[in-house]
Amino acid sequence: MKVLVAYATREGHTRKIARHVTDRIYDAGNTAELLALGDAGDVDLQRFDRVILAAPIHVGHYRRALTDFASSHANSLAAMPTLFLSVSLAAAGHDAEDWKTLDRILDEFEEATGWKPDRVEQIAGAYRPSDYDIFTRFIMRRILANKDPEADLDADRDYTDWPGLESVIDDWLG
Ligand SMILES: Cc1cc2nc3c(=O)[nH]c(=O)nc-3n(C[C@H](O)[C@H](O)[C@H](O)COP(=O)(O)O)c2cc1C
Repeated sequence: MKVLVAYATREGHTRKIARHVTDRIYDAGNTAELLALGDAGDVDLQRFDRVILAAPIHVGHYRRALTDFASSHANSLAAMPTLFLSVSLAAAGHDAEDWKTLDRILDEFEEATGWKPDRVEQIAGAYRPSDYDIFTRFIMRRILANKDPEADLDADRDYTDWPGLESVIDDWLG
């Protein structure tokens, strides 16, 4: 099986997730191609049996590279098995309001692009103050203090459940 893994990222964590997913697909005996969504505009999806798209949420929206790609390839994507990995800090917690917001962001994305993935997984992302500018660090410290009162607000932290992600990929590959 040949799988395209295409991702958008701002701070790099979704790239790390996409790489891990690509390795997992190889390890299961398949072929996988890893592409940044910004470079994937003219990719021929007919070359692949399945597609995984991965993108983070920033300020309540997915990255433009994802929405542009999903809109322009909506018909081809609808004709093949697809998995969407939605990466956020909201998915690191159990706050019901946060999860409702994740559902709403996904609904708006599907409506705007015309692409409804076969399967969607909400993946917990990372908190990376070492990469943020001063303004972003200020905002993110407040968000994280609210979400994870025990967190060290000065330290980078990876909230992704890597074994859980591997199980999702194994299951989806069938
Ligand atoms: C400026 C900024 C805004 C963010 N906005 C949200 C948000 O609205 N909802 C959320 O759940 N996570 C939010 N996050 C957390 C990111 O989704 C998380 O850090 C993710 O791992 C970033 O992925 P990336 O490294 O691939 O860019 C935000 C992070 C930053 C830095």
